[in-house]
Amino acid sequence: MRRSGFSLFKPFGNRLRKVLILVIGQGAREHAIVATLLKDSGVEVVCAPGNPGIAEIARVAHVNPNNSAEVVALAKDFNVDLVVIGPEAPLVAGVGDALREAGIAVFGPSKVAAALEGSKAFAKEVMEAAGVPTAAARYCVTVEQAAEALDTFGAPYVVKDDGLAAGKGVVVTNDRAEALRHALACIDSRDGGAVVIEEYLDGPEVSLFGVSDGTTIVPLTPAQDFKRVGDNDEGPNTGGMGAYSPLPWAPENFVAEVTKNVLQPMIYEMNRRGTPFVGLLFAGLAITSSGVRVIEFNARFGDPETQVVLARLDSPLSELLMAAATGKLSGLPELKWKSESAVTVVMAADGYPDSPVLGAVISGIPAAQAQGLSVYQAGTKANELGEITANGGRVLSITATGKDLTGARSKAYAGIETIEFDGEHHRSDIALKAALSEIRLGDDS
Ligand code: AMP
Ligand code: GLY
Repeated sequence: MRRSGFSLFKPFGNRLRKVLILVIGQGAREHAIVATLLKDSGVEVVCAPGNPGIAEIARVAHVNPNNSAEVVALAKDFNVDLVVIGPEAPLVAGVGDALREAGIAVFGPSKVAAALEGSKAFAKEVMEAAGVPTAAARYCVTVEQAAEALDTFGAPYVVKDDGLAAGKGVVVTNDRAEALRHALACIDSRDGGAVVIEEYLDGPEVSLFGVSDGTTIVPLTPAQDFKRVGDNDEGPNTGGMGAYSPLPWAPENFVAEVTKNVLQPMIYEMNRRGTPFVGLLFAGLAITSSGVRVIEFNARFGDPETQVVLARLDSPLSELLMAAATGKLSGLPELKWKSESAVTVVMAADGYPDSPVLGAVISGIPAAQAQGLSVYQAGTKANELGEITANGGRVLSITATGKDLTGARSKAYAGIETIEFDGEHHRSDIALKAALSEIRLGDDS
């Protein structure tokens, strides 16, 4: 086991701390989670493996986040009170199960429950049993089945890899040949490869997170993500190029209705099966003309939605996650939300999402921070000179709050102007339509 990364640190002693939290992951999402946890009094954080931005605010430990034995050993070494698992890969690898078996409180579902994200077919089956509204779908293991399904549903075609693909395994296209090519690629990608082909859902998308202890689920505030790489939703799908919250255009009672019709039935059904879901259930929803439909579930915080959701949270995150991990959510006071709006814009590396170019030196982060922005790091690495460089597709998440979306987005974009790296690209229309609708709403009142 590799210990060098953390054995150098002095162990946390018996000091005035209420809680020590280990956050697993290394993206902008984890950077935001760590920064938000650290706002709670008496909370200390260690993050593994972290990134250079996280290392500025918390201890980092160089363990493999997907290796259960390494993570358990780290959690024991530090005698942590809680482990928060950020990405899907450790969940699907069973890191949560190994921690629980070792008697450590974990925020993050078991391997079986995480299959709500890892297997589209499993998610559909649970949704059906729970009576949760979603797109009609077919599970296909041969190209003939796929071709038939494409013709049944018609264009636009929605073709999804039945496995983890970090949001990139989905093709939505009007081109039947392209749809069929993707279906074939999914089927051929590995032994047991399969593809899910489904009905196209029209209407705006919303991400709603629910925090669950296995029986109770507490909704967070909704956010909207921008999946396509280019302005006006052009170009290929990405992990997410920006997000904002709140949604001035969302239907009234949206959160209450989705909680009642989607989140609670899923938690109930998972519990009934003897595989309770403890952690963050992320519903990707489409608001269609015939009502809200689930596009997909994820078993973890979304990235970049987390950056804006947490920017608006006005209750202690550590208490929420601890209550979920220890089965005590029903006793938690109602969550409070700031009236401020939040916008996050992702700065991506040249070539993202197809083949990101790594190594560009990033300048201007401190200047952007001095403007009051949160600069969350994702694909970054310090080079031998100590400079921060681009080391992944999505490099930075620039997050700003303001009195409304118009204010938050102008602050975020002002921050973007101060940060530079070769080949950098970002969308210029994050939260634009919503900010315009906000102005119109304001005019009407
Ligand atoms: P997923 O990985 O399932 O979230 O899909 C990624 C993106 O593909 C979603 O955010 C949607 O923009 C789009 N998508 C997925 N399923 C559908 C569908 N049934 N109808 C329309 N768009 C979809
Ligand atoms: N932003 C979508 C996701 O985290 O999958």
